[in-house]
Amino acid sequence: MKKKPVFIAFSTQKGGVGKTTFTVLTASCLHYVCGYNVLVVDCDYPQFSINEMRKRDAKGLETNSSLQELAVAQFSRLQKLPTTSFVRPRTKP
Ligand SMILES: Nc1ncnc2c1ncn2[C@@H]1O[C@H](COP(=O)(O)OP(=O)(O)OP(=O)(O)O)[C@@H](O)[C@H]1O
Ligand SMILES: [Mg+2]
Repeated sequence: MKKKPVFIAFSTQKGGVGKTTFTVLTASCLHYVCGYNVLVVDCDYPQFSINEMRKRDAKGLETNSSLQELAVAQFSRLQKLPTTSFVRPRTKP
């Protein structure tokens, strides 16, 4: 059976009710727990909150070895290789 994409959108005109938070949590759950390939499109012009979150997370990964270990463990659990170059497993002495 051919796989079809599923489109999910969280939308309301009211501000600060959790659209961004719920989008990130849902995408993370579908990808990291369920193993689906997920594409998040941040249409939140001009805030781009999810993009800002990603940038903050990437910066954390570049500088924090504990976060790097957690990321490697997470990708290993999923049996997917990280697509970003900043995830480097700590080498054992
Ligand atoms: N389920 C929740 N329980 C408690 N706090 C939450 C929950 N979901 C979101 N928040 C908090 O509410 C605030 C607003 O959430 P968020 O930024 O996701 O809302 P938003 O609808 O995307 O806002 P905006 O309209 O500004 O884009 C954040 O500080 C977030 O941490
Ligand atoms: Mg938002």
